Amino acid sequence: MSVVAADAPFADWADAVRNRVERALEQALPESALVPQRLHQAMRYAVLGGGKRVRPLLTCAAGAVFAAPATALDQAACAVELIHAYSLVHDDLPCMDDDDLRRGKPTVHIAFDEATAMLVGDSLQSLAFALLSAPGLLADPAAQLAMAHQLAVASGSRGMAGGQAIDLDSVGVELSVPQLEHMHMHKTGALIRAAVNLGVGCGGALGTPAATALDRYAMAVGLAFQVVDDILDAEASTAELGKTAGKDEAANKPTYVSMLGITPARELAQTLHARALGALDDIDGDTTRLRQLAQTLLRRGA
Ligand code: IPE
Ligand code: IPE
Ligand code: MG
Ligand code: MG
Ligand code: MG
Repeated sequence: MSVVAADAPFADWADAVRNRVERALEQALPESALVPQRLHQAMRYAVLGGGKRVRPLLTCAAGAVFAAPATALDQAACAVELIHAYSLVHDDLPCMDDDDLRRGKPTVHIAFDEATAMLVGDSLQSLAFALLSAPGLLADPAAQLAMAHQLAVASGSRGMAGGQAIDLDSVGVELSVPQLEHMHMHKTGALIRAAVNLGVGCGGALGTPAATALDRYAMAVGLAFQVVDDILDAEASTAELGKTAGKDEAANKPTYVSMLGITPARELAQTLHARALGALDDIDGDTTRLRQLAQTLLRRGA
């Protein structure tokens, strides 16, 4: 997909993708005036105008390797971002992390109410699959079905939701490093992996050796992303994050920082970054955007 010149600076490319995805999300979400208005207002509040849009960037960067069609990429990127936004709304509920700030504004259950926040999550999840299963999204219906299947598995009890369950069960528990990795690979890694694989799917490349290499890239980036999130929770300010800093320690959650310490956690993020770039070495196509993206994600924790 060439939203901007292939050799444009990364920031310009990322801005262009974010703008396209924002417009596509805006169109996909029901208008606030539509009944039930409060639910639709809350869905739009949860999704629009915030977040780094890391998963859509990954989908589009992976799609770019295979010159995937822009319209399909936009819809796939929206689908994964909707699942992510739903996961954040539920993650912030009092029964989970009990947070009142997200993306620099009050969380959905604070700005609206808890029941609405639950329904927002439910509805965003359904909307994601409505987008991904839209007739004719891809010329190859089998590839489109495979993408919907991947996102479903990545979101469920064997993916993100399962990771969240382990996270809640782990409060005050001393995990081993492999157990912590397992939790992070599910609660965060699964959706990041799906984001990359959806881009591959849009490019008609599922099942190819390049797809296998990109999956290795995605696994490394997915784990690194949560390692960096753990570092930032301990080191950055609430104002910088747009969400409450220091929550993990306050809630007694096991993280890479609590288990290894800040410096080894940073080293691990570096190692994972190198692993991600190494996976890209096995790919013939242009992986520049994926390399730049991995670098940007790592730097936010530097
Ligand atoms: C936060 O995700 C939750 C994690 C899975 C670590 P992001 O850091 O991508 O949050 P937004 O989308 O930018 O708000
Ligand atoms: C959240 O992990 C992962 C999901 C939302 C699936 P965290 O609980 O660490 O995310 P933040 O720090 O609240 O964004
Ligand atoms: Mg959480
Ligand atoms: Mg949280
Ligand atoms: Mg966190």
